[in-house]
Amino acid sequence: MSHLIAPSILAGDFANLIKEVQMLNRSEADWIHVDIMDGVFVPNISFGFPVLAAINRYTLKPLDVHLMIIRPERYISRFKEAGASSLIVHLEACTHLHSTIQAIKKEGMGVGVALNPHTTINNLEDIINDIEQVLIMSVNPGFGGQRFIEHTFQKIEQTRNLIARRGSRARIEVDGGVDLLNASRLIELGADILVAGSSVFGSANPKKTIAALKAL
Ligand code: DX5
Ligand code: ZN
Repeated sequence: MSHLIAPSILAGDFANLIKEVQMLNRSEADWIHVDIMDGVFVPNISFGFPVLAAINRYTLKPLDVHLMIIRPERYISRFKEAGASSLIVHLEACTHLHSTIQAIKKEGMGVGVALNPHTTINNLEDIINDIEQVLIMSVNPGFGGQRFIEHTFQKIEQTRNLIARRGSRARIEVDGGVDLLNASRLIELGADILVAGSSVFGSANPKKTIAALKAL
């Protein structure tokens, strides 16, 4: 299967959110990536349920919701109600990760686990068969527009190996600093889903940039 493109709406124009969502609807984007930040797990606050629900009212694409919040297990059904198709929690933010994963599945959402740049892949060993997505952070979470961390390439290979060794169906998602320059190598190494914020919305023609990322 070809790779998926998930533009991150965080880099869009919030004063024209409906226009941004309509542009994504017309584009080759597979999903819309939605970043939720609580100002505790990460040093930034983005937005919460009302904005997610508003995006959901207009989108034709599945919403891939990336939670950068502590104790996300408190809000699983609220995110489902607000329109999340897949829910990604950070390994570093969950004391009882296994139980949180089961609770997300029970709500009928795809489940993903995100790893910060300092978190090693072997932490996934005992849950890799329970999840649909591994989100590898290629920047420190909290802000768009940061520089891609090169060590990510190695982590993708390690994740690929773990998935093969365990016979898991998890897809590898890469998030942070993804652009047309590093995307080919990410795909070659085994990335299945590319999240791209500023390289899409900061380009002269976001729709064309999405098509270019998809065509790689
Ligand atoms: C960072 C977020 C990313 C971010 C990506 O904390 O998780 O999804 O929006 O933005 P770019 O592509 O600009 O690095
Ligand atoms: Zn994200």
